[in-house]
Amino acid sequence: MKQYTEEIKMEKQKRKQLKAKKGAVRVATVGCGLHAILNIYPCLPRISEIDLVAVCDLKKELAQQNARYYGAKVWYTDFEKMIDTESPDGVIVVGPPPMQYQIGKKILERGIPIFIEKPVTWSIEESETLQKIAEEKNCWGQVGYMKRFSIPYQIAKHIIEKGDLGRITQITCKYACGKYPPKLWNLPEPKMCSLLGHEVHIIDLFRFFGGDIEELFAMYHCISEEQHGYCVSLRFKSGAIGSLSTNSFERWENFDEYLSISGEEAYIVVDQMARLKFYPRNDWVTVPKVNIQNLSMNWATSGRTSIKTEDRIGYYYELKHFATCLKEKKKPSVSLEDGIQALKTAYAIFESSQSKRPIKLI
Ligand SMILES: NC(=O)c1ccc[n+]([C@@H]2O[C@H](COP(=O)([O-])OP(=O)(O)OC[C@H]3O[C@@H](n4cnc5c(N)ncnc54)[C@H](O)[C@@H]3O)[C@@H](O)[C@H]2O)c1
Repeated sequence: MKQYTEEIKMEKQKRKQLKAKKGAVRVATVGCGLHAILNIYPCLPRISEIDLVAVCDLKKELAQQNARYYGAKVWYTDFEKMIDTESPDGVIVVGPPPMQYQIGKKILERGIPIFIEKPVTWSIEESETLQKIAEEKNCWGQVGYMKRFSIPYQIAKHIIEKGDLGRITQITCKYACGKYPPKLWNLPEPKMCSLLGHEVHIIDLFRFFGGDIEELFAMYHCISEEQHGYCVSLRFKSGAIGSLSTNSFERWENFDEYLSISGEEAYIVVDQMARLKFYPRNDWVTVPKVNIQNLSMNWATSGRTSIKTEDRIGYYYELKHFATCLKEKKKPSVSLEDGIQALKTAYAIFESSQSKRPIKLI
């Protein structure tokens, strides 16, 4: 212990001598696995508000390699040593939910905000524990529900907030992928794996647009241990209704994501997070003597001006939001509470599909 404390003292001195990036917050990361290196780390050097001070993984070679690739000043294999030495403003934690729980807890206990991947933890109780610690320490956690930050969904939100859609009346979605691992994170129930590992994304998106879900009824179909489908009818607290079809019957190569939001005499469709069509209540152009129909406003990625995937689907903007919240000492727009609500909804979908009964969430 004495040696550990001495080492930390020496390291702290060294760190002070390293100049921080001007005006940026000091961020450290834990976990250099697949999702981290494919989607999260590549965004960091482009975010001017982030100074990546350290990277940690149990596997030394991964920590070393990713510190080099993404410009971290140092790397660690022991996250507690990293936190105590570097005193970062915030920590990004990316890994399987049991790891995220163990590590997230220790970081929040030190009063340091975290960015943590969805579904946060796989039990509701564990996510509630994280939230409780965060509250006690006057701290917070942002959950990696990046779809909220994806460009077409942000456009849709903006249209809605401007009042151009009217009240939201109905939300419809198809979310389909290929075979899903039945032993994910050692979950005891294979039928739950895609719900907790994957479909929580779209559940959170429903809440983003429709608000809290009051009641739902789900049907379930399965053709193998890795291929499940859920068909969910639901009602939001606002009175609006929704319908969500998810499955792992199709192919990852043809991943399908389609969301339609109906308002009052107007609707928005977002297709594959790559195209948005807005059909407004009033025509935006009139041509004498011509009865124009299907007057939609479109947004799509295209050709030479195509947007980086990590920006379009939200990874870049969610991490920028994390940095802004750290810098301005404000709470994130997607919180541990949102993580808990998405988990509660996923469990309710499962319970309803098995009991063949509607479930009330509020
Ligand atoms: N938002 C999205 O679109 C999206 C997509 C895929 C995955 N995810 C989420 O990302 C997470 C999985 O991330 P991944 O694919 O990078 O995980 P992974 O399992 O590939 O890697 C985890 C890494 O953490 C390291 N690690 C484990 N315990 C550690 C500890 N105590 N200290 C330091 N390092 C430790 C491991 O050595 C490993 O390298 C899941 O929560 C998943 O739901 C999100």
